[in-house]
Amino acid sequence: MPNVAVIGSQWGDEGKGKIVDWLSSRADVVVRFQGGHNAGHTLVIDGVTYKLHLLPSGIVRKSKISIIGNGVVIDPWALVEEIKTIQAQGVDINPDKLKIAENAPLILPVHGALDEAMEVARGNKPIGTTKRGIGPAYEDKIARRAIRICDLEYPDVMREKLERMMLHHNALLKGLGAEQVSADEIFAQLMEVRDEILPYIAVTWKVLHDAHIDGQKILFEGAQGMMLDVDHGTYPYVTSSNMASGQAACGSGMGPDQIGYVLGITKAYTTRVGSGPFPTEQDNDIGQFLGERGHEFGTTTGRKRRCGWFDAVAVRQAIKLGGIHGIALTKLDVLDGMEEIKVCVGYELDGEKIDYLPASQVKQAAVTPIYETIEGWQETSRGARSWGDLPAAAVKYVKHIEELIGAPVTLLSTSPERDDTILMQDPFVGK
Ligand code: IMP
Repeated sequence: MPNVAVIGSQWGDEGKGKIVDWLSSRADVVVRFQGGHNAGHTLVIDGVTYKLHLLPSGIVRKSKISIIGNGVVIDPWALVEEIKTIQAQGVDINPDKLKIAENAPLILPVHGALDEAMEVARGNKPIGTTKRGIGPAYEDKIARRAIRICDLEYPDVMREKLERMMLHHNALLKGLGAEQVSADEIFAQLMEVRDEILPYIAVTWKVLHDAHIDGQKILFEGAQGMMLDVDHGTYPYVTSSNMASGQAACGSGMGPDQIGYVLGITKAYTTRVGSGPFPTEQDNDIGQFLGERGHEFGTTTGRKRRCGWFDAVAVRQAIKLGGIHGIALTKLDVLDGMEEIKVCVGYELDGEKIDYLPASQVKQAAVTPIYETIEGWQETSRGARSWGDLPAAAVKYVKHIEELIGAPVTLLSTSPERDDTILMQDPFVGK
């Protein structure tokens, strides 16, 4: 039985929460493989809204195993807080259900301080990070300085590593004119939180392999989106992890051939939070309309999202780079009632037409979109549960998107409700 990986194909916030929840009801194990609590996945189940940041979406379901993989950076205090919040909503969370990779690196208070200080140092060109310490924590992982979940068991090792780490970071904080952070203080805070984390530590790669051999279905839950990928996104205006499907393997401890079907979650228009290039952005009434109709405010930071037309060039690129087999198209209903809809089908750069987004930040800022105008529809597509329920012009729009991006629409979501979904092909059944 194949597994499924879900990844975002734009700049995040594509509506992964609902799709992941829908898929997790059919999976046995759900694993997060990158990012941290910068993510925000909203699930609406039987009228109850759950806001998840670090916990895999399987957590709200009985008898599913949820894994936080080694590719995730974990803020232990944020994790404990989130566990308590979700428990207070009546969800049972215990070590049989939730397992954390022993080799996952920690986000410490110093990483948040560095994230802030570095954004300030970027002056009028900030990245617009979530200030959760994500980037600095990944820096420490790559620099081989990180404190990992398994270190929580060994206070002496933890203290020694912390002292070395803070020697490095305090020099930087001092240079940036920011307040220094004491290793003793972080050590004391870690000692307070460790007992709440230790029960969840597990050899998660083994749990996953055993589940796979056992024929269980695994869902790899990605966060953010391909245009925020540290290699393939709009660098440096990206997050510090990879979203491409290969990361589902690396960030969980499985092989690439075990990932299975890769579903790219794609919004019927485009949004982005934070700074950086956004060729189809509509900083006007259209953007305002999309933002209001689509409730485009960040789940994690509450920031207003920038809105614009569907960018078929960027999504086509994301599909190729991310190894996406098919897409789940979300929020089609937000476009209901528009006279006409534009879709970006190419870019113009220095008087030439190009069919891809170049890597250079200079070129990314300079491309102008080439649009095709498509007839809108006045009827509602909201709540449609079959092709037949959709307005004819909406079907045409979806079919045209499929052609432009070179991938099938596997699933279509027509409202935040779980059942308002049109399934063209079951991702768990395969390519
Ligand atoms: P960081 O991940 O906090 O370092 O932020 C880097 C960039 O990624 C910023 O532009 C953020 O707004 C963006 N970002 C991070 N997480 C998400 C997400 O879950 N959805 C959308 N954008 C995100």
